[in-house]
Amino acid sequence: MDSRVPDLMRTAEALAREAGDLIRRGPERVDVAGTKSSATDVVTAMDLAVETLIRDRLRELRPDDGVLGEEDGLQAGPSGLTWVVDPIDGTVNFLYGLPVYGVSIAVVQGRPDPGSWTQLAGCVHNVPDATTWTAGSGAGAWQDGRRLPAMADRGLDGALLGTGFGYRADRRRTQGRVVSALLPRVRDIRRIGAASVDLCLLAAGALDGHFERGLNPWDMAAGALLVTEVGGVVTGLRGNPAGEAMTVAGPPTLVAELCEALEELGADADTEP
Ligand code: IPD
Repeated sequence: MDSRVPDLMRTAEALAREAGDLIRRGPERVDVAGTKSSATDVVTAMDLAVETLIRDRLRELRPDDGVLGEEDGLQAGPSGLTWVVDPIDGTVNFLYGLPVYGVSIAVVQGRPDPGSWTQLAGCVHNVPDATTWTAGSGAGAWQDGRRLPAMADRGLDGALLGTGFGYRADRRRTQGRVVSALLPRVRDIRRIGAASVDLCLLAAGALDGHFERGLNPWDMAAGALLVTEVGGVVTGLRGNPAGEAMTVAGPPTLVAELCEALEELGADADTEP
C-alpha cells in the first residue's frame, strides 16, 4: 500500500463528514440557484456553499494538491494529486427531500479523469442517514468503520442493477430503450439518484451491478474505488475505460455480460437506430 493512503483516507472522510454537517444544518426548503447542462440539471446554493467549504479546507490542509469540483472546475496543484469533489451527488433528490444524496470526495494521482487516474482514497457520505463509505487503494473498502467483504462473482441473469439517466434530453430515449430491453433478464433495475451512492451500495452488496451513461469524474471517483477494493470491476464498453460514454461496474462475470448486452443494444450511441 502507498504510505500516503491512510492519511488521505482520513482527510477525505473528515472533509465529507464536515460537509455533511453543513448540509444537515441547512434550510429545510432548498431553492434552485441555476441550471447547467439542461433544465433538469440543477444547482442549489448548498452545492456551491459545500464546494467552497471543501476547497477552503483543502487549501489549508493540502495546499499543493489540485481540486476538481463539480461546480467550480479544475484548479491544478504542483503535487500531482487532485481531489475530485462532488459537493452534493444527487442534487435532485436533495431538492425534493428524497433521502439519498451524498458528499463524494476522492483523491487521485495523475490526470483527474477515469482513463488516466490512479485512485488513492475516497469517501462517500450519504447525508440524510450519515452512512459513510471509505476506501483506500490497497487498504480495502469500509462502511461506517466495518470492512466490506470481497464481492462474490455472479452473472447478469436475475441481477439487481442500479442505473442513472443523464441530464441530456437527447440521450433519454436510448436510455429508456436499454432499460426496457434489459428488464426481462434481470431481477430489477433501480434508479436511486446518486451515482456515487449506487457504487457504494454495490460495493456493500446491496446491488449486484451498476451501469450509467453520462457520469462525470466526480460522480464516480470515490465510489469506483470502493467497488475495485472489494474485487469488482469498473469499465467502459469495448475495452475502453469507464467514463462519460459508459460506466459499467460489478463483479467480473456480470460486467462482461452487461458490457456485451449494452454493446449489442447500442447503449452508448447518440442517435437511435
Ligand atoms: C447526478 C447523480 C445521478 C446521475 C447523474 C449525476 P449530481 O449527479 O449522480 O444519479 O444519474 O448522471 O450527474 O448532478 O446530482 O451531482
